[in-house]
Amino acid sequence: MAYLTMENITRFYRDNHVLANSNVDFELRRNEIHALVGENGAGKTTLMKILYGLEQPDEGRIFLNGSEVFIRSPLDANRYGIGMVHQHFRLIPDFTAAENIIFGMEPKRRLFFLNRREAEEMVRSISDQFGFDVDPSAVVKNMTVGEKQQVEIMRMLYRNDETLILDEPTSVLTGRQIESLFYTLKKLTRAGKSIILITHKLNEVLSIADRVSVMRQGKVKGTYRRGEVDKKELSQLIFGRDVQFFAGRGVSSGHKFAGKKIFELKNVSIRSGDIKPLLDSICLSVSPGEIVGVTGAAGNGLRELEDVVSGLRDLSGGQVFYHGEDITNFSVHKFREKGFAYVPADRMKRGSSLQASLKQNLIIINHDGFSRFGILNRRRINSFVSKKLRQFSIDGNPDLPLHLLSGGNIQKTVLARELSIETDFIIFSEPTWGLDSAAGEYVYKKIRTHRDKGKGVLLFSSNLDEILGLADTVFVLFHGRIAGRLDNDGSLTKELVGTYMLGLEIDE
Ligand SMILES: Nc1ncnc2c1ncn2[C@@H]1O[C@H](COP(=O)(O)OP(=O)(O)OP(=O)(O)O)[C@@H](O)[C@H]1O
Ligand SMILES: [Mg+2]
Repeated sequence: MAYLTMENITRFYRDNHVLANSNVDFELRRNEIHALVGENGAGKTTLMKILYGLEQPDEGRIFLNGSEVFIRSPLDANRYGIGMVHQHFRLIPDFTAAENIIFGMEPKRRLFFLNRREAEEMVRSISDQFGFDVDPSAVVKNMTVGEKQQVEIMRMLYRNDETLILDEPTSVLTGRQIESLFYTLKKLTRAGKSIILITHKLNEVLSIADRVSVMRQGKVKGTYRRGEVDKKELSQLIFGRDVQFFAGRGVSSGHKFAGKKIFELKNVSIRSGDIKPLLDSICLSVSPGEIVGVTGAAGNGLRELEDVVSGLRDLSGGQVFYHGEDITNFSVHKFREKGFAYVPADRMKRGSSLQASLKQNLIIINHDGFSRFGILNRRRINSFVSKKLRQFSIDGNPDLPLHLLSGGNIQKTVLARELSIETDFIIFSEPTWGLDSAAGEYVYKKIRTHRDKGKGVLLFSSNLDEILGLADTVFVLFHGRIAGRLDNDGSLTKELVGTYMLGLEIDE
C-alpha cells in the first residue's frame, strides 16, 4: 500500500526556462527502499526538494496516508515525518555531532531544554540502536565524509522521521562505508521507515532497492520491482543506450616508468601536535604516460595528500617537485601558475564559483587564451564554451549562474575546464563523484587519452573499480603512510588492494 504519493507534479524554473519536473507521479510504500535514478539533470533532486518543501510545485498534489498535505517548507516536511540528506551536506562545521543533530528541532516537539550531556546521551542511544559509529562529541569539521553522512542520517532519526530521502548518499563514500550505510538502511526499513535513495550506481539499485523509478528529462519513465529489470535494461531506460561504466581495464603499455619524472613527492610529512602524523614520509612520483592512483579508506590521509599536491597545505617535512623544480610550500596561487590541471574532490567549494556564470566557470583559468591586448575575444569564448557543453553534455544556460545547474552538471563543468588546460600534468580527485554513468564513461576515456598522449596523471580515488580500471601504479595509504605500492599489471584485485587498505599488509 502506498502511504505517500506525489501526483502530477510539475516544476518550471523561470530563471533558466527549465521544465525540471513534468507531470510526475511518484509513489512510496511503507518499509520500502525506493531508488530514484536518472541522468544528470533528469529532475531527481527537484522532485525530492518538492517533497521536502524546499521547492513549490507549479502543479500537482502530495498525499500522505490518503489525505492531501501541503508542504511549504522543510518545517512542514518535518512535521509530516519527512527528512532529507542533501547531495551537498548542510552541517555546521564548528558544531559537534550532537549539536548538529539536535540543532533546529522545533520546540513544540521537545518542550524541555536539553543540556549538552543529555543531547549526547540521546545521540548515543540512536547510534547504538542502529549501529552508527560516530562520537557525539566530535566536531564536524574534523570528520570524514562518511561520518558526516551518519550525522545527517542520525539527525533524521532524532526527529523521528518516517520518510527518509537520501540524495546520492553513496557517491562520496568508500566501499566499506557504503556497505555499512546499506546495512543501516535495511535496518531502518525493518524499524518501519521508508526510504528514497537517489543514486547513479546501478549495482546499488539492483542490490538494495525494493523498487526503482527512472526519471528522464523531467518525467518518470516507469517504476519497477526488484528483479523486474536488469542492469542493461535500467541503463537503456536511463540513457536510451547501454552504458558500460567500467568498460574494461585501460591498463597502459605496461612499461616501467623509469627516468624522467614530471611530479615527485619526497618524504612528505604532516604533523599536527604530537598525535600520530597525518602523513608520514610519503614518496611517490608520476612519469610521462603514467596514471598513478592513490587510494585508502577514509581518514587515512587521502584528503591531506590532495591538499599537499594542490598547494593548500604546508608540509612539516619533505619536498614537492614539478619537473625537478622544488615547489614545496608554494601558495595555491603559485601552484596554479605552474599550469597543471586540478580537479578537486570538493568541487563545490574549491573548483567552482557558484555565483559566477557557467561560461565564466569554464574560461576562468584560460583567460589569457581568450584575450588579445586585454580585450576578450567573445567569438572564441563562445565557440569554446559551446564545444565544452557539447563534449561533456553539460545541460545548462552558459550565461546563468552555476548554482542553477544540477549537481552532476556542476561537477562536469569543473572537469570540462580542467581537462581542456594545456598541460602535461593533471591531478584528479574523485573525478566521477556525482556523475551519471554516461558522463563517467566519457571522463574515463578522457583520462586515458591524456595518459596515452604522454601526460602524467595523479588520481586520488576511494573507488577501487576506478583505481583498478585506470591506474598503472597504485599507492595505498594507511594511517598516513604508504602501506603498498602495487603495479596494476592485470593481476591486481580489489581484494588485494583491500588488504593494504586495512593495514593487513605493509610494504616496508
Ligand atoms: N534552483 C534552480 N533554478 C533553476 N534551475 C534549476 C534549479 N535546480 C535545478 N534546476 C534545473 O533543473 C533541472 C533538473 O535538475 P535536478 O537538480 O533536479 O537534476 P538531478 O536529476 O538531481 O541531476 P544530478 O544527477 O546532476 O544531481 C536541471 O536542468 C537544472 O539545471
Ligand atoms: Mg541531483
